[in-house]
Amino acid sequence: MMQSEIETRSREAAEGMEEAVALLRAGQLVAFPTETVYGLGADAGDDRTVAKIFEAKGRPRFNPLIVHTLGVDWAVRLAELSPLAERLAEAFWPGPFTLVLPRRSNAPLSLLVSAGLDTVAIRVPAHPVARELLRRSARFVAAPSANRSGAVSPTTAAHVAESLAGRVSLVLDGGACKVGLESTVVDATGEQPVLLRPGGITREMIEKAAGPLAEKKSNGESRITSPGQLESHYAPALPLRLNATSVGAEEALLAFGPDAPAGAAKTLNLSQGGNLVEAAANLFAMLRALDDPAYSGIAVVPVPERELGAAINDRLRRAAAPRPGAATVAQDPSKA
Ligand code: TXA
Ligand code: MG
Repeated sequence: MMQSEIETRSREAAEGMEEAVALLRAGQLVAFPTETVYGLGADAGDDRTVAKIFEAKGRPRFNPLIVHTLGVDWAVRLAELSPLAERLAEAFWPGPFTLVLPRRSNAPLSLLVSAGLDTVAIRVPAHPVARELLRRSARFVAAPSANRSGAVSPTTAAHVAESLAGRVSLVLDGGACKVGLESTVVDATGEQPVLLRPGGITREMIEKAAGPLAEKKSNGESRITSPGQLESHYAPALPLRLNATSVGAEEALLAFGPDAPAGAAKTLNLSQGGNLVEAAANLFAMLRALDDPAYSGIAVVPVPERELGAAINDRLRRAAAPRPGAATVAQDPSKA
């Protein structure tokens, strides 16, 4: 299922724009320049295409992605902007600056874009090629840096073509990126801004525009010591039971593939045909749909660890991990 047969072409931005717009609108990936680094773009409203981003990057995890748009007028359709967020947007958009904001429940976005979280990261790029792609496609565009997972972020079209050869059909060449460093990411969901990722917009610039930064917290408890270690993640309210081979009559079942165990109160299948891109696209929406107090818990059948299965299993394990405040621990009804 890996897209290793794709031919990767670079086209000068002005010549390739029309094709890029058509590909994006047809649910394909397109690499494009921003002033920070090149992005690997997908229609942010399309679960399946967003899943392809993770497949192409070979990311072992579903990290939440940045959604790119043209300005505050578009951002407000996706998220709620507090007065603090508005001040930051006013000061640094368009530019190398990303705001993490409370996601609107009716935002026209894939749940996979924000890895199931109730927040969404939004960036308004200044680069004319990125802006033309956003304007002409009339899409919100999800884009991480256009490199394979673990490799450095690309600042030229040649870097992208090298890193993602066979994994993206079109790279729009807009020359070298001016900033060369990923955007500054600031959480503006609370009363004070929190710096999540340093970048071209500095701490001093942010404090001048919006007052003192608060220290980064993990789930409102202790300070994060190692990045990524205590990152917040989506977890359903119901207990999750992994690697289920049988299911209780009161449980909801999240199945994968053609051979789901029978007898659950409700079953949703990530992919009847066993396709991992389809499964990734469905993961967060199906977990949310099954997270209903009508059931005693959610049983999940084993998902293979290959390709996107590794990222799916990573999220499932985090969602199943015991957490403070959780009332119940999942139990295998067949062993109870
Ligand atoms: O300059 C950039 O920001 C580039 C260009 C292409 O725009 N994009 C980029 O995306 O660097 P990516 O996916 O490589 O980095 C996104 C960062 C990650 O550190 C991620 O954890 C954080 O943004 N992020 C995204 N959504 C978030 C959310 N809802 N809450 C907290 N952090 C979030
Ligand atoms: Mg990156």
